[in-house]
Amino acid sequence: MLPARLLALSSTLAMAIVPLNGALAQSGELNLYSSRHYDTDERLYSDFEEQTGIKIKRIEDGADVLIERMSAEGANSPADVLITVDAGRLFKADDAGLLQPVSSDTLNERVPEALRHPDGNWYGFSKRARVIFYDKNDVSDPPATYQDLADPKYKGMICARSSSNIYMISLLASIIANEGEEAAQKWAQGLKDNLARDPQGGDTDQLRAVASGECDIALSNTYYFARALGGSVDGLTGQTDDIAVVFPNQDTTGTHVNISGAGVAANAPNKENAILFLEYLASDSAQKYFAEGNNEYPVVEGVAMASPLTEMTPEGGFKADELNLSALGENQAAAVQIYDRVGYK
Ligand SMILES: [Fe+2]
Repeated sequence: MLPARLLALSSTLAMAIVPLNGALAQSGELNLYSSRHYDTDERLYSDFEEQTGIKIKRIEDGADVLIERMSAEGANSPADVLITVDAGRLFKADDAGLLQPVSSDTLNERVPEALRHPDGNWYGFSKRARVIFYDKNDVSDPPATYQDLADPKYKGMICARSSSNIYMISLLASIIANEGEEAAQKWAQGLKDNLARDPQGGDTDQLRAVASGECDIALSNTYYFARALGGSVDGLTGQTDDIAVVFPNQDTTGTHVNISGAGVAANAPNKENAILFLEYLASDSAQKYFAEGNNEYPVVEGVAMASPLTEMTPEGGFKADELNLSALGENQAAAVQIYDRVGYK
């Protein structure tokens, strides 16, 4: 027996789906290519199956492996939906012709315009911010903007990951879109000149390096810090009190955000089910599970975020960069060239 609150959520969802699609009981299956693997996902998928009668068949692997696999399978691909992270990666899948446009009033109403492809080739279903962390004991005048990270006063203080990483590429792509290539190159050069060590490791490693004192300032996505607040992350949990967070560019362009998102596969054998699934992901109850799985921000307004994320987010929220995320893909190649030109590893 489900708790009353969850039952209420389920019935709300059923009501939301029925009028849009005509019938509660759909049949058939949905082949989901997903790079997700979170505990709350079981509930995310089983709720959909119960509501619609559609059976989800999951193929889970790394994002790049899934994209290659879809390319290799071509017109015979069984994939109906691809779920992955970062608009830059969704751009790559779309650029390879692996996704198709979807027209849905539900999706257009519920997913903010900046967080979806202009033609509906992909949609964001949760949001992460790329923010600045610093050691409270060592930094009295922390950077307030991404641009500040290139200020010589932070020389030898900053840790960031490699330019081959999609998060670093997408961040630079956003700077290109907002300020142009020349300013973006100056920024990349300045960031490189301020590094405490060669770019290396993942986002958690940047945070660990602040905790251990190897650097004073680091760039990381929000959920890596939230993970340390809510669970147990080696080298970080227990030391988070000394680390403060800055949501950059609050007085200018807003903080750089990115998404976890999904699109309907170009050759989806079950296209109707695929669209139904994307609409489901935008429902209040699915938003909660989808975002909580990785301590991300729901994209639908009014859906609560997980408590570790609440703890680190300014009360009343933060101003996000409203640049359409498709710009990240469009400026991807230019971003990679800039990192190469300035010798950022
Ligand atoms: Fe990540």
